[in-house]
Amino acid sequence: MVETDSLVRCTEPIQSDLESFDRKLADYLQGDSPLITSLARHLLKSKGKRIRPSFLFLSARASDNYSEYAVDASLAIELIHTATLLHDDVVDDSELRRGQETVNHKWTNLISVLMGDYLFAKASRVMADTGSIDLVGAIAVAAQRVSIGELRQIEEIANYSLSEEEYLEIIADKTASLFAVSCETGPLLNARQRKERESFAAFGENIGIAFQIIDDLLDFVGNAEVTGKEPGNDLLNGKVTLPLIYSLSRVSEASRHEIIGYLSNDGNEESFQKVYDFVGENGGIDYAYKRADDLCQRGLDSVSPAQVSVYYNSLIDLVHYTIARAS
Ligand code: IPE
Ligand code: IPE
Ligand code: MG
Ligand code: MG
Repeated sequence: MVETDSLVRCTEPIQSDLESFDRKLADYLQGDSPLITSLARHLLKSKGKRIRPSFLFLSARASDNYSEYAVDASLAIELIHTATLLHDDVVDDSELRRGQETVNHKWTNLISVLMGDYLFAKASRVMADTGSIDLVGAIAVAAQRVSIGELRQIEEIANYSLSEEEYLEIIADKTASLFAVSCETGPLLNARQRKERESFAAFGENIGIAFQIIDDLLDFVGNAEVTGKEPGNDLLNGKVTLPLIYSLSRVSEASRHEIIGYLSNDGNEESFQKVYDFVGENGGIDYAYKRADDLCQRGLDSVSPAQVSVYYNSLIDLVHYTIARAS
């Protein structure tokens, strides 16, 4: 998977933070067993976007709340994120992640689940190293929300009557939770006023929901060579997301019925193409972009710093990248 130029540009002011993050991550994943070493090597080979650590460092520095524990906090969050991906790829039966074979595909489901557990355990140790009980509490709540969101999503598989509101609640839990805790970490570690912590948490929550809306939209229009994962997996798994929810809400009962019929046609390529055309023609993609854009604006409204800095400007750029990204 290729990092886009704009992501590199947004993270320029925090390059040294990201380098410390990479060094410590590689150290933490140093082999506790030969199998763990191979799995860690596989995971480190293709890094992912590091977008949660980037939001964490930029939020902390833009609010003048950077502390020596920011790197440990970002590691704990990224380890939890990676653990949830190892589990999620089993749940979604995915074969491609970050442009390479998923662990479940290259090894087995069992190994992917157990390596996910190992990363969760590792994250707990790193969190404890910060000595901040408030941080441990906030990350634990976020991790719990990820599980709640993933489980709710399974309950709603193939529910083509899912409302936009219900969809937004699910993605807030499964994805925005880790963005919210990333953005609030700086103020939290500095024991600043509660208000600043809440503003940054609200910022991260809105950006995180927008991030997942874009991820879901890329499942319709993305390119595997850029996203590093196969498009079309969501429809195939009966995962109902915003472009489809919106398009289904705009048409007659008869058309809804017809489209749901195509969706129930297990993996039939022609039927799925009809659904893609339907979503495109009924404005589902444009609507999802617009919704993500509104949420980012709302997020930005909750954080206006006393002083504009290079970090704050990059934070704004990173928000725009979140919408415009192709990977
Ligand atoms: C993927 O997250 C899972 C979602 C919440 C959509 P990322 O898109 O941040 O994954 P990596 O870390 O860059 O691979
Ligand atoms: C996000 O959902 C997964 C987690 C929050 C763990 P997706 O299932 O859409 O993520 P991708 O598309 O597989 O990265
Ligand atoms: Mg998935
Ligand atoms: Mg996805």
